[in-house]
Amino acid sequence: MITLKIDAERVLHKVSPDLMGIFFEDINFGADGGLNANMISNYSFDGVYMTKDYQEVLDPLRYWTLDGGEAESLDEDPLGKNSRFVRIHTTEKARLENKGYNGGKEYADQCAIAIKNGHSYTFEAYIRGTLQVQAVVETEYGTLLTDRVEFTAADGEAAAGTWSHIKKTLQGEQDAYGKLALIFTGDGTIDLDCVQLYDSDFWGKNDPKWQNGKLRKDLVQALVDLKPQFMRFPGGCIVEGARSQNEYNWKETVGPLYDRKSTYNLWAEAMPDGGCSQSYQIGFYEYFCLCEDLGAKPQPTLFAGINCQFRSEEIIDIDSAEFDTYVTQNYLDLIEFANGDPEKSQWAKLRADMGHPAPFGLQRIGIGNENHGEDYIKKFDKIRAAIHERYPEILCIMSAGFQPYKEHTQPFWDYAKTLDHEILLDEHCYHSPAWFYESAYRFDNYDRNVGKAKLYFGEYAANNLSAPEGKVDAEHANSFGSALSEAAFLTGAERNGDFLLSVSYAPLLNLIGGTHWTHNMIDFNPGNVCLTANYMVQKLFGNFQA
Ligand code: AHR
Repeated sequence: MITLKIDAERVLHKVSPDLMGIFFEDINFGADGGLNANMISNYSFDGVYMTKDYQEVLDPLRYWTLDGGEAESLDEDPLGKNSRFVRIHTTEKARLENKGYNGGKEYADQCAIAIKNGHSYTFEAYIRGTLQVQAVVETEYGTLLTDRVEFTAADGEAAAGTWSHIKKTLQGEQDAYGKLALIFTGDGTIDLDCVQLYDSDFWGKNDPKWQNGKLRKDLVQALVDLKPQFMRFPGGCIVEGARSQNEYNWKETVGPLYDRKSTYNLWAEAMPDGGCSQSYQIGFYEYFCLCEDLGAKPQPTLFAGINCQFRSEEIIDIDSAEFDTYVTQNYLDLIEFANGDPEKSQWAKLRADMGHPAPFGLQRIGIGNENHGEDYIKKFDKIRAAIHERYPEILCIMSAGFQPYKEHTQPFWDYAKTLDHEILLDEHCYHSPAWFYESAYRFDNYDRNVGKAKLYFGEYAANNLSAPEGKVDAEHANSFGSALSEAAFLTGAERNGDFLLSVSYAPLLNLIGGTHWTHNMIDFNPGNVCLTANYMVQKLFGNFQA
C-alpha cells in the first residue's frame, strides 16, 4: 500500500496562467489537407514540388487529371498578383478531376474528398470563357456522392478584372471518399483558378471575419477542447525554411486568397515525390482569428535571417540592408498587422479590410526556431532591440537550440543574463518516456540566476527521437506509456510556474497516411478525427489547473 500525503497549505508557486499552449506547424499535412477546410489539392494551379536538394520545381497541374481536351498553364492576365491559372480547350467535352489530399505515398491514387450524406458542400471557383461547366463529387468508379451543379461564367459575380466568381452548393448524398469532377462542354476555352470545395458547416461559418481561408470544424473543436492558453505558429522548421526563399514570410500569407503564392513545404523531404506544398489558405490572418476563437494568446515565430541549420544554413548577413528591410521589418510590420490602428498603419488597414478591424492583442513573439550559434545571438539581439524600441511591452522569445542540455543552452542563458528586459528562452526536447519521467523534477532545481529571463518549453514529446535506445516508429508512437510520462513531466511544469511560463507539445496534427513525423497529438483523415492518449493528457492539464 502507498500512502500519499498532500499538504494543501504548502503552495510552492502558482501554476503559470500561460502554461498550456498549442504549437501548430504545417507538418504531416496539418494545414493543407488538415485544418484547411478546402479539400482540393493544388486548388490554384500553382503546383510545385521539391527536389532532394530543396529546389522548387513548378508543376502547375499537379494533382489534376484531364480527360479529353487540352490544358495549358498560363500567367498572363491572371486572377491574383502571383497566380497561374489553367486554360482548358475543348471542341466537345473535357473532364478535369482532383482527388483531394490523400497523403501521397501508398495512398497517392486514392480518392480523399470526404462526403457525408446530409452535409452541404460549398463549391467556389473563378472562371473566364465560354464553356458550360458541371461540378460533382463521385467515387473512383463513378458513383455520384453529391448532386451536380451546372454553370457558365455568366452565372457568377464579376471579380478581379475579367474573372467571374462562382459559388454553388452541392448536397452530400452518401458517406464515402470521392473526387471532384469538373465537366466542360462546348467548343471553346475556359480559364479556371482557385477551386474550393468545403463543408458548408465550416468553423465560424456565421462570423463575417471568416470570409477568407476556412477551417475544418471537427479539427478546430478538438483544439477548443484542449483550452489552450496560447498558440505558437507557424513553426518549427517551416519558419526557417530549408533554404533561401523557402523561409516563412507572413506577408505572403495575407490578403485575398488568390494573391497568396504557393511554395513547397520543407516537410516534402519526407515524400518520395517531393510533393507537399503550402498554399497559405491558412495564413497569418486566419491564425490570429483562430487564436481569438480559442481564447488563446497568439505567439507567432518569425524567420531570424537563418535558414534551417540542419539543412542548408543559408543566411542573410546581419549588416545587410536586406536584414533590416526584410527580416527585422517583418517583425515590426507583423506587430502593426496584429495590433495597429487601421487609420495609421497599412498593415492594420489590411487586417481591417480582411474582416477584423479590432486589434488581435499580440503580446509575445518568437524570434527564430531552433537557431543556435553566435550569429543567431547577434541577430536575436538586433531584432529584439528594434522591437523593444517601438513596442517595449512585447515579450520576445529566443530559441535555445534543439536540445535542452546545458552544453547547448548555456550561451543563450549567458546572453539573457545581460539583458535588462524580460525574455523567454525556448528549449525543446524529443526523448524517451524514461527521460520524461525523470524530468518531472527537472525544473525544481533549474538555475534561476539568469537575470530577467524565464523559460518556455516550446516543443516536447516522448517519441524517443534523442534516446539512443529508443525507436521512433509507428509501433512505439503514442503509447499509453508515452502519454503517462508526458503527464509526469507536466506535473513538474505546473509546480514551477515562477520560472517555467509556458509549454507546448509538438507536433499537433497528423493526416493518417501522410505522416512526415512519427508521434503526433491528433491524428485525422479527411472525414474523421482520432484523438491520441497524448492528446488526452494535454486536455487533462489544459482543463484542470491547480
Ligand atoms: O515538431 C517537429 C520539428 O521538430 C519542428 O519543426 C522543429 O522545430 C523540431 O526539430
